[in-house]
Amino acid sequence: MITVLCANAGVDKTYEVANFAVGGYYHPSAASTTAGGKGINVARVLRALGQPHLLTGFAGGNNGRFIARDLIDDGIRADFVSIAEESRVTINIIDRTQRTQTRVDEVGPLVTPTELQRLRDAWRKHLQRSTLAVIAGSAPRGVTLEIYAGLVEVAASANVPVIVDAHDELLARAVAARPTVISPNLAELQRLVGRQLSVPDGVLRAGTDLLDEGISVVLVTLGARGAICLTRSKGVWWGKPPSIERVSSVGSGDAFVAGFAAASLLRRSIAERLRLAVACGAANAETFGAGNVAAARVQELAAQVTLERIGGDGDEPGGDEQ
Ligand SMILES: Nc1ncnc2c1ncn2[C@@H]1O[C@H](COP(=O)(O)OP(=O)(O)OP(=O)(O)O)[C@@H](O)[C@H]1O
Ligand SMILES: [Mg+2]
Repeated sequence: MITVLCANAGVDKTYEVANFAVGGYYHPSAASTTAGGKGINVARVLRALGQPHLLTGFAGGNNGRFIARDLIDDGIRADFVSIAEESRVTINIIDRTQRTQTRVDEVGPLVTPTELQRLRDAWRKHLQRSTLAVIAGSAPRGVTLEIYAGLVEVAASANVPVIVDAHDELLARAVAARPTVISPNLAELQRLVGRQLSVPDGVLRAGTDLLDEGISVVLVTLGARGAICLTRSKGVWWGKPPSIERVSSVGSGDAFVAGFAAASLLRRSIAERLRLAVACGAANAETFGAGNVAAARVQELAAQVTLERIGGDGDEPGGDEQ
């Protein structure tokens, strides 16, 4: 099972408005309300791929109840820590004519120290039955910037490999706790190392430094250019997606992480993990919304992903790199 943390879950309202412009007045042609958040997107893709998962995080108030119900309806296994404040709402305005997506994101609830401790306890409990863990996205107000670092340490002591997809200070502090895998996009990696990076040479240098700091796998996502995967003992790979018709790549990084996690659970080789990750990211980019991928389409895209070994002196790809 894969335990997935979504510390900043919320309610995503999506309105479809053709030719949306600032200052206008609109009736949406379609409207939907779903549970949202990066970890939730990861769990949705794991579910689509048929992989066992357990999602945890914070949920509060009426919005929290909605989140729990929506996840059940979508067949996602979740165990959220109940909080006193209301979970946040995010409004997405999708314009299919101009192919734009506009977002209004509430700041989110303030979490108390007791609630944070409950989340740590839930994390520890679920890891006992997990072979892999994923930490994705931002954290709500009230929690310390060390939150992910602490959860990474819990995973290490439970001997469960952990993938971290976060940014800025949360990522920097998590890196210091040496997660098994990190998955920044290029901009996030540049902020982490504090300099601009060329592709691929600058990315390879920065990624190698992170391997030297004790991370086993560094995944750097590059949007339509695919992703570079650096490992300590299985070489360095560049996975490139086929050219697709991009609709919205919001959540492609989350889908990418889910694909990598799913293939890791199946103990595929590092190159095949990258292949499934790139295919999931591309499948997500073909649709509006985040985490809405179909397993059959993922498989079609996976067959078209190209994998190029670009450096490193590791062994041939094996199935046991965690
Ligand atoms: N336009 C695209 N065409 C094909 N594949 C794509 C496209 N955009 C993204 N992908 C795939 O998805 C992966 C992740 O995308 P990206 O680098 O945009 O992540 P991200 O910036 O973390 O996104 P988010 O945080 O919104 O989920 C890429 O490495 C690539 O494999
Ligand atoms: Mg991302």
